[in-house]
Amino acid sequence: MFMSLQENLKLNMIFLYLLTLLSVVHTVFGDDNLTALFGSSPRQDLTFVELAKYDGYTAEQHFVTTEDGYILSLFHIPVNENCTTSNGTIMFMHGLYLSGDDCIIPGPDKAHCYIYSNNCYDVWVPNNRGNFYSRNHTTYDPDTDAEFWDFSIDEMAIYDLPAVIDYVLLKANVTQISYVAHSQGVTTLLILCSKKPEYNAKIKVGFGLSPTAWLYNAKFIVIKFQSLIAPILSLTDALLNVEILARGGVLQSSGEILCGSTAVEYPFCSIIIFAALGYNEFQITNDVLPVIVGLTPAGTSLRNFIRWGQLHNNGFSEYDYGTIKNLLAYGQINPPLYDLSNVTMPWVFVGSENDYVANVTDIKTLVSNLQNVSLCVLSDKTFGHLDFIYGKDIPNYITPIVLSTLENGEYTCT
Ligand SMILES: *[C@@H]1O[C@H](CO)[C@@H](O)[C@H](O)[C@H]1NC(C)=O
Ligand SMILES: *[C@@H]1O[C@H](CO)[C@@H](O)[C@H](O)[C@H]1NC(C)=O
Ligand SMILES: *[C@@H]1O[C@H](CO)[C@@H](O)[C@H](O)[C@H]1NC(C)=O
Ligand SMILES: *[C@@H]1O[C@H](CO)[C@@H](O)[C@H](O)[C@H]1NC(C)=O
Ligand SMILES: *[C@@H]1O[C@H](CO)[C@@H](O)[C@H](O)[C@H]1NC(C)=O
Ligand SMILES: *[C@@H]1O[C@H](CO)[C@@H](O)[C@H](O)[C@H]1NC(C)=O
Ligand SMILES: *[C@@H]1O[C@H](CO)[C@@H](O)[C@H](O)[C@H]1NC(C)=O
Repeated sequence: MFMSLQENLKLNMIFLYLLTLLSVVHTVFGDDNLTALFGSSPRQDLTFVELAKYDGYTAEQHFVTTEDGYILSLFHIPVNENCTTSNGTIMFMHGLYLSGDDCIIPGPDKAHCYIYSNNCYDVWVPNNRGNFYSRNHTTYDPDTDAEFWDFSIDEMAIYDLPAVIDYVLLKANVTQISYVAHSQGVTTLLILCSKKPEYNAKIKVGFGLSPTAWLYNAKFIVIKFQSLIAPILSLTDALLNVEILARGGVLQSSGEILCGSTAVEYPFCSIIIFAALGYNEFQITNDVLPVIVGLTPAGTSLRNFIRWGQLHNNGFSEYDYGTIKNLLAYGQINPPLYDLSNVTMPWVFVGSENDYVANVTDIKTLVSNLQNVSLCVLSDKTFGHLDFIYGKDIPNYITPIVLSTLENGEYTCT
């Protein structure tokens, strides 16, 4: 009975993505041949370590166990062999239902982590609990134990981030790291520094690419959907502890109907994945497209997915348990906003007018709640949410801000 309800829920999710698929196919792609559209790439099915090797870099996989038993993959690109010294330590943190692959997907001279490595930084790339690389736990089995999937951004912030930050500080033998993050990766560090203020001192500076906290103005269809179903699904709390958007299919179990392995089915599935992530036809080039399709999404819990609907509805606030449990947990009907007065570390945010997830209006709300922050709104008004990690102009717009700030504390906003 319980399992069959879960399966039903999964099927409903598929229909959501089918609907999104139809709208995207019609508005963006027309009736083009979909296989020809995506093409293929020798880089599309590789793991982080394999992909880095293919691209001419060395990468290692480390495992870090959190206080609550999750075993996370942490990738390391050691200081480039061509460098005499290290310029510092950079951690790159991925966004919602994505993975550390994001910082190498665009390839040499274009991807965040390769550019930092070329500039002699020691680069570390964690993966949040539940994604493709971090489906492991000291006691729970992600394939059979619902408990494994009982998490959202709050657990990522309070358990995953401290574990990987402390591990890197120890291994790299440094007192501070610089933090480059996309979307959810910004959200989680904000929550961490609010809850455990001692982490402020461990971060030299945080670069928030498309930073997300308040989402009132997010127009992205999936966020709209999340906010719509969040209150409904919260009534059936246990059902939220399931995996969604796993790599290899929209949903691994029932998704096989759509995401079979034939040449015809695969592109259809890919489009659905794209629809779920947002799509920008200007920045994502043909060589990168099939790699994104092959490596994303990378999975998270349904509870975490729904959590973003809560943020859209409630502002940048704590977990919403529903009225009665909120009263017990917080002494009030609605969850309180996170207290950002403890976030003292310096931030550099980069936003774009074309970002349907991190709307500039919402970023400015976040900025007004922080003490040490600067905001660059890109002058290119076509740059979208995923372009911050996959776009061809990353080396022109984004990484110069990071490198220049680290080198001399200043940057030019282009
Ligand atoms: C090191 O430099 C050589 C020569 O310029 C270059 O071919 C190679 O790709 C570089 N290695 C890395 C990891 O950047
Ligand atoms: C999970 O972690 C344990 C302990 O590190 C390891 O022995 C095991 O191989 C891992 N399992 C998977 C599926 O990665
Ligand atoms: C760590 O760094 C300190 C100071 O930079 C140095 O004295 C020490 O030898 C280093 N430890 C290791 C294990 O490399
Ligand atoms: C802010 O940090 C202090 C400890 O420095 C802590 O007592 C307080 O609870 C923190 N505020 C929040 C909202 O977590
Ligand atoms: C912001 O942080 C930077 C780097 O730590 C520091 O140099 C600067 O003084 C801070 N500014 C303010 C207003 O606190
Ligand atoms: C950002 O929010 C403003 C105000 O709601 C809205 O007019 C604008 O269209 C939004 N931008 C995007 C890209 O969604
Ligand atoms: C990194 O260090 C090298 C010397 O090892 C220096 O030439 C280069 O300018 C530095 N780059 C940055 C971004 O700090």
